[in-house]
Amino acid sequence: MVDLTSAATNKTNPARRKSKKRRLLCIFFLILLVLLVIISIWFCIFVSTVDIPKEGACSRHAELQPYYKGRGDIKPLLILVWTWPFGERFPLDTCLSEFGVPGCNLTIDRNVSDHADAIIIHHYDIMQSRDLLPKGPRPHYQRWVWFNFESPIIIKNLDMVENLINLTMTYRQDSDIFIPYGFLKQMNIPQTFTIPTKTKLVAWLVSMWYSGNRRTKYYEELRKYIQIDVYGKEHKPLNWEDFSSTLEQYKFYLAFENCGHKDYITEKLWRNAFGNMMVPVVLGATRENYERFMPSDSFIHVDDFSSPKDLSEFLLVLDKDDVKYKQYFNWRSRYTVERNIGWDTHFCKACSVLHQVNGYQTIPSIEKWFINK
Ligand SMILES: *[C@@H]1O[C@H](CO)[C@@H](O)[C@H](O)[C@H]1NC(C)=O
Ligand SMILES: *[C@@H]1O[C@H](CO)[C@@H](O)[C@H](O)[C@H]1NC(C)=O
Ligand SMILES: *[C@@H]1O[C@H](CO)[C@@H](O)[C@H](O)[C@H]1NC(C)=O
Repeated sequence: MVDLTSAATNKTNPARRKSKKRRLLCIFFLILLVLLVIISIWFCIFVSTVDIPKEGACSRHAELQPYYKGRGDIKPLLILVWTWPFGERFPLDTCLSEFGVPGCNLTIDRNVSDHADAIIIHHYDIMQSRDLLPKGPRPHYQRWVWFNFESPIIIKNLDMVENLINLTMTYRQDSDIFIPYGFLKQMNIPQTFTIPTKTKLVAWLVSMWYSGNRRTKYYEELRKYIQIDVYGKEHKPLNWEDFSSTLEQYKFYLAFENCGHKDYITEKLWRNAFGNMMVPVVLGATRENYERFMPSDSFIHVDDFSSPKDLSEFLLVLDKDDVKYKQYFNWRSRYTVERNIGWDTHFCKACSVLHQVNGYQTIPSIEKWFINK
């Protein structure tokens, strides 16, 4: 009979040592196996998402991603940036790294104009003279893109581009390449947000003072009934450093466009008002038009009131009624405000659309489309 007690306590028993060693080895391999499984699961997830750019880049133009997922072999398009927009330079090599759009070879070198796949023409930069447009020869496959961010009242000489253009690229939703100043992104899970402490009433930031136009007249009348703080060149100064901290103290912002044109909703609303948690009071396009881009309870439209005096009374009521005022923020739990910042955002979007839209297309008259609805 084996003496179990003595065997258990006998630490120098070689057979027992061997079995313990085996057990340890077994545990070691088991741990190794588990680790391997974990690593491979992590690796699979990582590899399948590796082509999605980092958070910051993603939010610059998230909707560009899906078309390209898994399409590594896309043929590069040579795209000539005809002028730096307003003379402002921007990086030409960010489409893939920042926006996940492959196959873009953007260049400013006009020497490629006789073989580029597309030329993007920023109208404002060439509108003074026909001589500023690209000249032939133009290969049959080359597409010219008419790029414009300005309202019809700023834009001149549209007859210059009659029968030359294949695609439009503007803030109008019916453009081939739609480049809004901003947009709302719907969220799957409700978002939390905080409304900054509001100690002031109405702010307005004016860079160009057009006396006699509708927005100026409206302001002149409105200010008789309600305190409006006007910032800008000829008014209260406002530095970029103080921009947000100053504006977010206001309850309302006059997001008055300089003219009323379809889809013309600019940074006055997206950056100044929404970007600084103020309720925009809008003038420009119709309410119906605004509601195509944002919830009806996210803004106050001047057309809802019979007069500026009427509007002022409404604003003063909201000023006294916190519950009612805060209702203008309810949408923020469902959406985030996105803005298209940087020229490269637009050019990379153009590249993306140029890849997707193939074949012959021509726009006989930009003027008819852009000016006359
Ligand atoms: C971009 O186009 C230029 C001009 O045709 C060419 O020299 C260059 O190699 C191209 N770059 C890429 C990355 O395709
Ligand atoms: C374009 O071509 C001209 C003449 O061939 C040349 O002098 C110039 O350096 C070229 N420009 C660039 C940016 O390569
Ligand atoms: C682009 O538009 C021009 C001018 O109307 C036209 O001649 C050309 O065939 C069009 N090209 C493509 C690729 O659509």
